[in-house]
Amino acid sequence: MHAPSWSTSLWLILFGLLLPLGTMRAADDLLITDFEGDTYAPWVVTGEAFGPGPAHGTLPGQMTVEGYKGARLVNSFFQGDGTTGQLTSPEFRIERKWIAFLIGGGKNPEKLSIQLMIDSKVVRSSTGPNDQPGGSEALAPDAWDVSEFQGKLARIMIVDQATGGWGHINVDHITQTDQPPRVLRANVERSFPVRGRYLQIPIKNGAPKRKVTLMVDGQAVVRNDIELADGEPDWWAPLEISSWKGRELTLQVDKLLDDSTALSSIEQTETLKDAEQLYQEPLRGQFHFSPRRGWNNDPNGLVYFNGEYHLFFQHNPYGWGWGNMHWGHAVSRDLVHWQELGDTLSPDEMGPMFSGSAVVDWNNTSGFGRDGKPPLVLFYTAAGNPTTQCLAWSLDGRTFTKYVGNPILKEVTGGNRDPKVIWHAPSKRWVMVLYVEKPAGRHTVHFFTSPNLKDWTFASHVDGDPQGQRFLYECPDFFELAVDGRPDLKKWVLLGADSNYAIGTFDGTRFTAEATHLPGQRGRGFYAAQSFSDIPAEDGRRILVGWFQTETRGMPFNQSMTIPLELGLINTPEGPRMTFTPARELQQLRRTSHKLEPVTLTPGAANPMEGLKAELIELRTEFEPDPTTTVTFNVRGVPIVYDAASQTLSVNDVRAPAPLVNGRQRLSVYADRTGLEVFASEGRTYVPLPININPEVQTSTLSVEGGNVEIQSLELHELQSAWERP
Ligand code: FRU
Repeated sequence: MHAPSWSTSLWLILFGLLLPLGTMRAADDLLITDFEGDTYAPWVVTGEAFGPGPAHGTLPGQMTVEGYKGARLVNSFFQGDGTTGQLTSPEFRIERKWIAFLIGGGKNPEKLSIQLMIDSKVVRSSTGPNDQPGGSEALAPDAWDVSEFQGKLARIMIVDQATGGWGHINVDHITQTDQPPRVLRANVERSFPVRGRYLQIPIKNGAPKRKVTLMVDGQAVVRNDIELADGEPDWWAPLEISSWKGRELTLQVDKLLDDSTALSSIEQTETLKDAEQLYQEPLRGQFHFSPRRGWNNDPNGLVYFNGEYHLFFQHNPYGWGWGNMHWGHAVSRDLVHWQELGDTLSPDEMGPMFSGSAVVDWNNTSGFGRDGKPPLVLFYTAAGNPTTQCLAWSLDGRTFTKYVGNPILKEVTGGNRDPKVIWHAPSKRWVMVLYVEKPAGRHTVHFFTSPNLKDWTFASHVDGDPQGQRFLYECPDFFELAVDGRPDLKKWVLLGADSNYAIGTFDGTRFTAEATHLPGQRGRGFYAAQSFSDIPAEDGRRILVGWFQTETRGMPFNQSMTIPLELGLINTPEGPRMTFTPARELQQLRRTSHKLEPVTLTPGAANPMEGLKAELIELRTEFEPDPTTTVTFNVRGVPIVYDAASQTLSVNDVRAPAPLVNGRQRLSVYADRTGLEVFASEGRTYVPLPININPEVQTSTLSVEGGNVEIQSLELHELQSAWERP
C-alpha cells in the first residue's frame, strides 16, 4: 500500500472539514401552504365557516385583520361567527424539526384550533388568542416542535366548531422548518425577591406595546403598556420597587417572543442606569424642567407648600411617547432649580392619572389635616370608564394618600377632566373649574362649589365655542389678576389649554365674560399651562408654567416645561389684556454678563455682538427703530426679527404682533438647547418656540435694514445650567 498523494490528502482534509459544515447547515424551509389560491384545493373543506376559498384579509363586519402574509389567509369569520366547518390538508411527510404558522382569532382549545394528526391522533394543537370582547384580529407566529415525528406521515386540520363571540379562527402560511421559530408566548413570567430600589425595564422606542404586570404575593400592583426591547434597548426605564423590599415579586408580560431577552435582562439597581450623562445630555434643556426618564406633558398640581414649589406633571415613566399616565413630581425652592422625586400618583383600577391641580387646605375644611398641619390636596382625573374626579392628600408633600371616598365627582360626560380647584375667599368656599366635553365638539367649562373639598355641587357652566372651535378646550385655569397692579381693580381670567382666554367677573358661582376669545401666547409648542396655587399673599405674583413641547429624539426623555412666567393684566385701549414676563428668579442663572454701550446702528454697521459666544442665553434689549427699520437679532442661528413698519416680531418662522410702546420695543430672549422663549411689548407678546438649536453655533449677531435703530440697552447674559447634579 502506498501513501496517498499530497493532493488526495488535501482533498480528504477539505472533505472532512466540509462534511460537518454541510450537515450542520439548516435545510431550506418547506412550504406546506400559503393559502394564496382561489380555492383551498387540495385541502378538503367541510361546513360553511371557511367560505369558498382563502379570504382577502378582513371579512364584512370584522375588525381589521392584520399580520397575515401575502394577499389571502384562512379566516373562518365567513358570514360571521355563527358558521362552523373544517379544513383538512392532504397527507405530507414530516421532514423538518418544526411546523410553523401564523394564528389569530378566538381562543377555545376545544372548538377553535389548528391540529396536527398522525395515525388519526391529534398530537399537536393550538388555538387563537382572544376570549374577551375587544381584543385584536392580529395574527401572530406560533410553532410546534415535531422533531420526534420526523419521517412520519401527517395531516393538518383547522377546526371551527365555535359559534358565539370570537367564534372564528385565522391561520396563514404553514411551513416546515429547521430554524427554531420566534413564537409569541402568552403570560410569560419571571419571579424574584425584591432587593434593590429600581427594576430597570429595557425600552425600544416604537416596539409593540406589551402589557407588563407586576405582582406582589399574587396581587397585581402595577400594570403598564410598555414598548419592551426584545434585544438591545434604546434606554432603561426605572420602576421603583423599594416599598416591596424582601417580598417575592412576579413580572408578567402578556405576550413575548420566546427568544426575547426583555425579562431576563431586567436588573435591580439602586440608581438610574446609564446616568453618567444625566442632565448633561445633548438635548437636555438646561433651564427648562424635564423628567430624568420618559415622557412629560401637562404640568399638574402647581402649588407652594412648606417653603417649596411643587411641580407635578403628566408622566409616562416607561415610554418616550405619551401613555401610562402617572403624576411625576419635582420640587424647587426658587422656581428654577428643580429636584425630581419619584412618581406620586400611579394608574389604578379607576384609570390612568390625568391632569389636575392642588391646593393647601389652610383651614382644614377637609379634615385631612393633623396636629395643626394643613394638608396639601391634589385633584386629578381618573381617566377610566367612567372618567371621574378624585383627590389625594399629603401632610409632608412627599407621601400622598388617595382618598378612600373617591371619586369626589361622578362622570359628567366621558370627556370631563382636568379639575382646577381654587379657594374663593368672598364666599368662603372652594370652587372647581372642570373641562367638560359635550357631544358635537362642544367645549364647556363647569363650575362646582364645595365647603370641604370632598362634596361638590354644580354651580354653572361656560360654553367655549358652540361651533367647536376649541375655545376653552382642556386644562382650564381660573384666577384673579390686578389690572396695572392695582389691588382695587381686579379681573378674573379663564384660560384654556392653548392659553387663549376670557376676562370677566366671578361672584362665587358664575363667571361673566367681558371679553372672550383673546389670544394668549403667540408661539408654538406651548400647551396646558397652569398657575401656582398658594403663593403667599405678600409675594402676590401669579406664576404660570406651561408644557413646552420640545422633541428630544435619541434621548431617554422627551418634552419639557416652559420657564416660570409671571402673569399680569395691563389696560389697553381695547380693555385689560394679559401679559407674560419671565419670573425674576431666572436672574440667578446669569453667569457672565456683557453690557453693550448705547449705539445708533445703521444698515451695514458692524455686529455689536461680535466676539461674544454663549450656549445658554438671556438677551435683553431696548431700542427705538425708525419707522422703516427691520432689526435682526440672530441668536445662535435663529433669527429674531422686529419689523417696525408692521410692528411684528418673528421668531424663526413664527410671526406675532408686537406693538411699540412709546415708540420703543423691549425684547427678552431666553435660548436653551431645545428652544427659545421671546418676550416683547411689555409682556403683551410671548413667543415660545421649541427648536433644537445647532450646538455648533454659539455666536449671535445684530444687524439692521431699511433704516436706523437707536439701541438704548443691550445685555447678553451667559446662563448656567439649572441642574444640580444629584
Ligand atoms: C392635555 C390633556 C389633558 C389630559 C392629559 C392626559 O394635554 O389631554 O386634557 O388630562 O392631557 O395626559
